[in-house]
Amino acid sequence: MRRPVLDLRQVTKTYGAGDTAVHAVAGVDLVVERGDYVAVMGASGSGKSTLMNIVGCLDAPSSGRYLLDGVDVGRLQERQLSLVRNRKIGFVFQSFNLLARTSAVENVELPLAYAGVRPAERRRRALAALDRVGLAGRVGHHPNELSGGQQQRVAVARAIVNEPVLLLADEPTGALDSRSTADMLDLFDTLNASGRTLVIITHEDEVAARARRVVRMRDGEIQTDVRSAARELAP
Ligand SMILES: Nc1ncnc2c1ncn2[C@@H]1O[C@H](COP(=O)(O)OP(=O)(O)O)[C@@H](O)[C@H]1O
Ligand SMILES: [Mg+2]
Repeated sequence: MRRPVLDLRQVTKTYGAGDTAVHAVAGVDLVVERGDYVAVMGASGSGKSTLMNIVGCLDAPSSGRYLLDGVDVGRLQERQLSLVRNRKIGFVFQSFNLLARTSAVENVELPLAYAGVRPAERRRRALAALDRVGLAGRVGHHPNELSGGQQQRVAVARAIVNEPVLLLADEPTGALDSRSTADMLDLFDTLNASGRTLVIITHEDEVAARARRVVRMRDGEIQTDVRSAARELAP
């Protein structure tokens, strides 16, 4: 059997202590198999970002167990954790987070540089990733020469260039107009169809409607977890 990409068991995150303790994540069980496309929804304050920080190895849970691609990340020290993060997860943020003074292809090369890939190979793989997101004609442009939608596609290319097991996005269409949002959703469909595992935080129904599975959070817990009948995961 293939190991799941994510396997969280009774994961909690509590801020503060005693009477003022906030149970931001209050006992979450979540298994995400390879090739799935999951939208995480929920009202503001329901724990989405806290859960995503844990999933993204940016923050440690207070209790519970978390296996990322079979690795028990709860046992890792900060240095190992950042290695695992770099190798296994590609991040996309609402605000793109590109380096302003750096061309598209150089932005995409960054994770490869951290991973120690040689320059020529870096360039080859970054150009291929930009081609996959439809930006082969813009590789030398700086972020301020690109539209919001194009900048977010550069961010997606940067997120997938390492071939991570998971693409993790926090409100990836939050800063995009409706046309660019539609393009981004088409791109997510294409990436998922080619086997990539996506977990996307969103408050937009339009985005969630494209996912195979919608997880709704409330008060730090998973309230509902619904798989779309029309978009079953291939066996
Ligand atoms: N660093 C923190 N310190 C204290 N409380 C926090 C911290 N981060 C988040 N919280 C609280 O945890 C709860 C969940 O927050 P968050 O995960 O940001 O929710 P969401 O992303 O769904 O809006 C909220 O009550 C929030 O106020
Ligand atoms: Mg949030």
